[in-house]
Amino acid sequence: MNTQPIGIFDSGVGGTSIWKEIQTLLPYENMIYLADSINAPYGPKGKEAIMDLSIKNTEYLINKGCKLIVVACNTATTNAIDYLRSKYDLPFIGIEPAIKPAALQSKTHTIGILATKGTLSSELFHKTSHLFANNANILEQEGHGIVELIESGKLYTDEMKALLKIYLNPMIEAGIDYLVLGCTHYPYLIPLLIEFLPEHIKIIDSGEAVARQTKAVLEHHNLLNESSILGKTDFFTNRKPEVMASLLGESQKVSYLDF
Ligand code: DGL
Repeated sequence: MNTQPIGIFDSGVGGTSIWKEIQTLLPYENMIYLADSINAPYGPKGKEAIMDLSIKNTEYLINKGCKLIVVACNTATTNAIDYLRSKYDLPFIGIEPAIKPAALQSKTHTIGILATKGTLSSELFHKTSHLFANNANILEQEGHGIVELIESGKLYTDEMKALLKIYLNPMIEAGIDYLVLGCTHYPYLIPLLIEFLPEHIKIIDSGEAVARQTKAVLEHHNLLNESSILGKTDFFTNRKPEVMASLLGESQKVSYLDF
C-alpha cells in the first residue's frame, strides 16, 4: 500500500501549485494528478454539480489504486470534502483559504481574499472565516475569469493584468495588508501580483500547509513511501496537455485523458 500513489485532483491546472509543494516535501512519493479542465471553472457551478464532479474525479483516482486523495481545489474542498470523507474509506486532504494566519498577522485588521464564487458562497468558508477572522475586516472578491485565462494559456497577459487591477484596487484602497489567495490557480499569478501590489501587502496561500498536512496524515496512517528511489508523477488532463506542460516545465510529461 505504501508505494501506491497519492491522488491529486483539481478542476484544472491550478492544483499543480499544490503538487509542487507536496513533491518538494515528499520526493519519494508516487503521485497521479488529474485535471478536469474540460469542466473548468468549477467556481460558478452550484454545489450539486461540484459534488458530482468531485465524486467522478475521486472514483477515477481510487480505481487507480491511490492511498490518499488531495483535493487540490478550494472550490471542491469547500463544497464536497465532507461528503467525500463520509462516502469513501481513505484519507482526504483538502485546501481552504488561509484566513487564520492572515487575520492573526494583519496590522491593519483588514485582509483581502480572492477566491471563486463557489468557495466564497460555501457554508464551510463562512464557518471558517467567522471562526478565524480574529476581528479583522475580510474583504471578499470573486475572481471571475481568472481561471479561464489560466486554463487557456493566457497567464501573463494584459487581459489578466486588467482583471487583477479591477479586483485588487478596491482592496488596496481599503487598506489591506494581507491578500489571501483562495484558489489553487492563483499562486501562478504571484509574479504579476508582486509587480502590481504595494510592497507592504503580503500574499499568502495554503500550499505549504497542505503539503505538511499530507505528510502528517500519511505518517499517522503508516502510509509514507519508504523507498529510497525518487517518486514519479503521472499527469492527466482532459483538455490541453500543453497548457499544463508549460506550467510544469519540460521535465514532466502530461498526457491527454478522455475522461
Ligand atoms: N483551482 C480551483 C480552486 O482552488 C478551482 C477554480 C475553478 O475551477 O473555478 O478553487
